[in-house]
Amino acid sequence: MNRREFLLGSTATAGALGLGGMELVAGAQELTIQPASFALRDQVTNGMVSLSPDAPPPVLYGRQGEVMRLPVRNTLADYTAMHWHGLRIPNDMDGVPYLTQMPIGEGEVYDYAFTPPDAGTYWYHPHCMTMEQMAHGLTGVMVIAEPEDPGFDSEQVINLRDFRLDENGAFLPAYTPRGAARAGTFGNVHTANWLKTPVYDHGAGHLVRLRVVNTDTTRIYRLHLMGGDAKIIAWDGHPVEVEVPIPTADAPLLVGPGQRVDFAVAMPDQEGGRVDLMAKLPGRPAQPMATLRAVGASVSRDLRELGPLPANPAAMPDLANADLHEFVFGWTPEGGQPDNGFCGSLGYNFWSINRIPWPGDAAADVGPLATLERGKSYVLRLRNESPNLHPIHLHGLVFTPIKSNLRKLPPLLTDTMLLLKGEVAEIALVADNPGDWAFHCHVIEHQKTGLTGFIRVV
Ligand code: C2O
Ligand code: CU
Ligand code: CU
Repeated sequence: MNRREFLLGSTATAGALGLGGMELVAGAQELTIQPASFALRDQVTNGMVSLSPDAPPPVLYGRQGEVMRLPVRNTLADYTAMHWHGLRIPNDMDGVPYLTQMPIGEGEVYDYAFTPPDAGTYWYHPHCMTMEQMAHGLTGVMVIAEPEDPGFDSEQVINLRDFRLDENGAFLPAYTPRGAARAGTFGNVHTANWLKTPVYDHGAGHLVRLRVVNTDTTRIYRLHLMGGDAKIIAWDGHPVEVEVPIPTADAPLLVGPGQRVDFAVAMPDQEGGRVDLMAKLPGRPAQPMATLRAVGASVSRDLRELGPLPANPAAMPDLANADLHEFVFGWTPEGGQPDNGFCGSLGYNFWSINRIPWPGDAAADVGPLATLERGKSYVLRLRNESPNLHPIHLHGLVFTPIKSNLRKLPPLLTDTMLLLKGEVAEIALVADNPGDWAFHCHVIEHQKTGLTGFIRVV
């Protein structure tokens, strides 16, 4: 294969998609993890981590069923490893230190190459020095396009995340032990694509595909749209085939760390008309995180012109023949300290899965939480014994929530389930991707203080 076949996109696509400031990687597939500076507030914040010296990690474009080659070069003194969240790819490309690869040291390159089987909205982040590197900026969006154009006029990616800064724009510690033992430590600067309420222009009356990704280390966003007509077309990457209500100010959509939602938005017909992505943060009224602004003469398109997105090729679990595995998420009975390896430790164990806290980086002597037989169907019962919410994420596979003691769950394919306080939920999956797959809470402070394990598919 020649170099051109590995292009992630083209500049022509970048213009057409209306990326509004997010740079597209075209041709240069090598991703160089490096220090960065950026004005997150009025002052420049130094000590950030990105893939360029002065911009957020770019949106990476791929195409369903086409190979992507993404060598990752580490120029930091710290170790790293890159994970492609939600992609069902071979285990050795999954980017989890010691479980699927060795950490990437300073000056080293790891050659990631994979063919995404599913279209949709995904993202990438390090899985080694996870807290430090993510908190300092290294969280980017991946868009895997359908082979057929689904019929939008333009597209907008919104990467939502907070930063924890002091009044001079310098980083505060990414976590506190108090936060890690509870809901997590929250950032105080709320951004979309690293900006405060950016405004993106889209044609009046156009149909826009709005891809919203929560890449924060802690925050569960409560989102709704204001202005324009909209519907939810995909959730955690996968097309939504059932009718799901459109979130409102009174009933916002909970999007946990790691989760994604795609909206189809019909832009207002009036030039200057706005569609605001609103977030309700604790203790204040909902505020706009990002704005789409209508420009030009309206082409008056209608949401009903859109057909459904093509389903991704995920196998449907056979519930009648599914074995059950149980998982309890809670505090750790023993506390103790995780080992401090190359991938960073927060210095505490507060959390556990099935009463066992993850021992730290290399997880010596810890076996899988469950061993699944390749090709078989399973039901996993997830029990939250803590008063906090946990976005529980499984690598390498997709699953469908099937029941809960607290709510009616739409049967949507996902890789991350936001487990509510006191919730016992069942999820179903087909174990069709062999390997050791990380299974953890995506509140990074929980992940790094014990709420981690892995599931083996043989
Ligand atoms: Cu998005 Cu194990 O991670
Ligand atoms: Cu993942
Ligand atoms: Cu958690």
